[in-house]
Amino acid sequence: MNITFAEVQPHTRAYHDLVQAADQLDQAKYIAALVPHSDESLLLGAFDDEQCVGFLRLLIQVIGREYARSPIVVASAPLREGYVEAFGVLPAHRRCGIGQRLQALAIELCRERGCYQIRSRSPITSVENYALKLKLGYALQPSHENDSYYFIKTLS
Ligand SMILES: CC(C)(COP(=O)(O)OP(=O)(O)OC[C@H]1O[C@@H](n2cnc3c(N)ncnc32)[C@H](O)[C@@H]1OP(=O)(O)O)[C@@H](O)C(=O)NCCC(=O)NCCS
Repeated sequence: MNITFAEVQPHTRAYHDLVQAADQLDQAKYIAALVPHSDESLLLGAFDDEQCVGFLRLLIQVIGREYARSPIVVASAPLREGYVEAFGVLPAHRRCGIGQRLQALAIELCRERGCYQIRSRSPITSVENYALKLKLGYALQPSHENDSYYFIKTLS
């Protein structure tokens, strides 16, 4: 199967396909939601000939702004991070490396923007996501939110 990866813009056919894929994993609400504290929202899709089979939404943001914390300023600029707001691969396409490739592309986008770290959160039930994050070298931070863990990886 030939999978292509692309950045997806709103109001396109690819965007519509991506939202449908996200909906199948109950994540459509995270694709379109406005996130006022973020500076940029990027959407990545994995496509086979027919449809979107995987997706990742990446927010670029100043570290701490979402919790109204003062920014950490280094060399006159606030430290920024990538935050993965939505991430999934349709069940029939799992264990083919698509999720790992989406994560690698997200890390590339973060590095291009000078982000210090990349971060995400997921419920404790998402066993395959934990396995993927451990393989990619993420650290784990327990959270009170929805019985979940945060995953954090520095990019410097
Ligand atoms: C998490 C998810 C995106 C992974 O997508 P994927 O395309 O299957 O992942 P990959 O094929 O790139 O797997 C990369 C690595 O992750 C680990 N992994 C992935 N799925 C795994 C599973 N079911 N069991 C054990 N390890 C697993 C493996 O180390 C794997 O590498 P390997 O195949 O060389 O052993 C997918 O399982 C998914 O959509 N799950 C439901 C939604 C979800 O949990 N989203 C994230 C949190 S909101």
